[in-house]
Amino acid sequence: MKRTLESLDGAALEGRRALVRVDFNCPIKDGTVTDNTRIRAALPTLKYLRDRGARLVLLSHLGRPKGGPEPIYSMRPVVRELERVLGAPVTFLEDPTSEQAVATTRRLTRGSVAVAENTRFYPGEEKNDPELAQRFAVLGDFYVNDAFGSAHRAHASTEAVARMLKPAVSGFLMQRELRYLGEALHQPRRPFVAVLGGAKISGKIDLIEALLPKVDEILLGGAMACTFFKAMGLETGNSLVEADRVDLARDLMGKAGPKLVLPTGGMVARELAGNAETHAVSRDAIPGGWAVYDIDPASERDFAARIGRAGTVVWNGPMGVFETPPFDSGTLAIARAMAEATSNGAITVIGGGDSAAAVAQAGLTDRITHVSTGGGASLEFLEGKELPGVAALDEG
Ligand code: 3PG
Repeated sequence: MKRTLESLDGAALEGRRALVRVDFNCPIKDGTVTDNTRIRAALPTLKYLRDRGARLVLLSHLGRPKGGPEPIYSMRPVVRELERVLGAPVTFLEDPTSEQAVATTRRLTRGSVAVAENTRFYPGEEKNDPELAQRFAVLGDFYVNDAFGSAHRAHASTEAVARMLKPAVSGFLMQRELRYLGEALHQPRRPFVAVLGGAKISGKIDLIEALLPKVDEILLGGAMACTFFKAMGLETGNSLVEADRVDLARDLMGKAGPKLVLPTGGMVARELAGNAETHAVSRDAIPGGWAVYDIDPASERDFAARIGRAGTVVWNGPMGVFETPPFDSGTLAIARAMAEATSNGAITVIGGGDSAAAVAQAGLTDRITHVSTGGGASLEFLEGKELPGVAALDEG
């Protein structure tokens, strides 16, 4: 168990500079944040600190600049969005490694907030460079990590700095993420069902292997199901099949036995287009020249029924090409089944990324027990890997 923000003496936070690593890696279009979910998710931590008179200095990366400043990855649009969400002015630290930035943090008034420019504008960030971490460390008097989405990265602002600036504690979002993902994985209410999708089996092997001993069932959809169909000796037409993973798929099926539940059919089309002619076909009747782009309605019903019987459901990855309707149908069916299961008392957890986007698109986010803000981080957590950003925090 890691030391938490509430474990610090609240009265002693007054006037202290909290260096808070957040994950404000938000989508931006034309200089404006288009989805502020990650900013809103950090609000409980920010509010707690502001209410106690701390002075906040926030660090985040944005996008994947190549180790130097790139205007399209500037944090300025995030600063504007944070000002809007907080209803308060936010100071921008254009060069957080400068003496001037340190002086600015010392002049902040109680309860006010500053945001540093993109941590990835410094080549030392992704190298977990202690010198850069030291420059970040002098911006605060203690460290809070609320960036679950970046916790799988051992970077200067997530790992090295947490070993230098003490106390180093977890924020409320970080705690919530670790609690829901951890409980699902280690103390699941049974039956425990995992729903896995996505295009490629190669990115999900570790996850499937890590989950198999823990779950009662894995419902597997997305294009990667076609690699399993191939391993069963079925015709897959023009569907996406990872030829070099067919043997692996066969091994996994052998190892999993009845725990691994594949779709019984798919929605096929000749091309991936919204207006393409589509048919629902059984998995043993995929016609040559056609490709599977989604699970079929019979599989939707089968998966939904299994989700309905579950005590815990963890979902990672879409069932089809959900960004191209009508091939979003299977993914939306899973979202609805999860919302329904939540209403009936199941614990439902969505590991960020595409599945979180699908649930948001269906307007069902509030009907899920926990939607993770971290795609890569939740995947690594569920794979049983240690997250360096968490490991570096103080023990509680
Ligand atoms: C994410 O969006 O998953 C996190 O912010 C991590 O981003 P990264 O994959 O560029 O490290």
